Amino acid sequence: MKLNRSVSRFALGAVLLGASAWNTFAAEETLRDLAKERGRYIGAILNSEWFRGDIEPEFEQIHKTQFNTVVAENEMKFDATEPSEGQFNYTYGDKMVQYAKENGMRVRGHALAWHSQVPNWVNNYKGQKEKLLQVLKTHIDSVVGHWKGDVAEWDVVNEAVNDGDHTWRDQGSVWFETIGEEFLDSAFVWAHAADPDAELCYNDYAIEWGLGQGSKAGFVLEQVKRWKENGIPITCVGTQTHIEIAHETTPENVRAFAKALAEYGVTLNITELDIGFPNGSASSLGAADYAKQGHLYRQFMDVFLEEPNMGEFVIWGLTDAHSWLDAQQGKTQGLLWDKQYKPKPAFDSLIVSFKAHPASEVVTPYKLDKDTTSIARHVESPRISASLVGRTLSISGASSAKIELFDMQGRPVFSGKAESSSINLSNIAEGLYVVRIHAGSANLIQRIAIK
Ligand code: XIL
Repeated sequence: MKLNRSVSRFALGAVLLGASAWNTFAAEETLRDLAKERGRYIGAILNSEWFRGDIEPEFEQIHKTQFNTVVAENEMKFDATEPSEGQFNYTYGDKMVQYAKENGMRVRGHALAWHSQVPNWVNNYKGQKEKLLQVLKTHIDSVVGHWKGDVAEWDVVNEAVNDGDHTWRDQGSVWFETIGEEFLDSAFVWAHAADPDAELCYNDYAIEWGLGQGSKAGFVLEQVKRWKENGIPITCVGTQTHIEIAHETTPENVRAFAKALAEYGVTLNITELDIGFPNGSASSLGAADYAKQGHLYRQFMDVFLEEPNMGEFVIWGLTDAHSWLDAQQGKTQGLLWDKQYKPKPAFDSLIVSFKAHPASEVVTPYKLDKDTTSIARHVESPRISASLVGRTLSISGASSAKIELFDMQGRPVFSGKAESSSINLSNIAEGLYVVRIHAGSANLIQRIAIK
């Protein structure tokens, strides 16, 4: 008997996705195709169990079918990539990059400068500013350099803002306590120098609580303004969005923050979404609860598709069988697939949201490749370039520009204005520097050797 098209597609989808009776769309569409048509990225982490080869085959099958963005749950963090000083371990990260290449996915790198999951050898340098600057710089140069061109976007700094008073995290962060605020600025400058094409994000939780007075989001916004004014090469903010089912107003907070960031030309990404129920409630959850969860997921997707400067929608896990919520957060059942890899109503809700936002109406913050087979990087600012001849730095693409020089530890050495497209640097001592050139909305950061 010949099956009609929709029946056969459903049958295929059901095998592939473990579609259950509550899913009507699972067989028809994939999140990644719908996202790609709209010039957007949708992702889920690769859990640590995947890296160790200790996960059910359904995981990868669903992951590569549904997502076009990938992030490592733990394997690109500082303690994973530089467990001992100067000894780098790229094995797991390379495995992910390879997987992404095979499956046409974009890689997010998570995370370079974070107070958590840093090895003891780093914490042992607490109080030694010069040393820690050098440690951070070496780490960023090496890790970003290793994956140059492969990692499209880095969380350069993660969770640097305090919970209580919404200023910098001044306790429990070896970076801030020893180096001060300049660790953030330097980290962005070094990451940009190591891979000028990578997008660079500031990532944090509780930004999605809104822009009220004294809010974390408000503080982050002030920093974005300062960074942009000073030519610090930030291109995106990540709002983690680990929330609970009761947080019904959160999607609109995200919308307001996306609009506020648009003023500075900075993209907002949802980077670690999960919507958990209280721990212990799993056995009593019914259809209405999962429908409510789906509704909330859908509202995030609606906002995401309606805001022109949002680029990525990343979920911190795929199946409730493998989630940090149960293990560490006192929450449960926060993801799109249940413990048996059956798609939950939240999956359908995302599909429905995509369909309610036709590709012709969704604006992408990214440049689309000509053949539209892939989404390229963030729209670039106008190009400028610089070359050093003797002691004269010549700039092309701008007649006047702000010039700043930093030593290799990121400390400012010189600041001046180039008129008539050049500046004389004869008073600068011989050595290797990072020069930052700022002209209108264009920025350039590169290394120069003054001889
Ligand atoms: C979590 C991982 O999921 C856990 O496996 C690990 O033990 C701790 O970190 N914010 C972040 C992520 O930026 O790196 C965290 O990931 C979740 C909260």
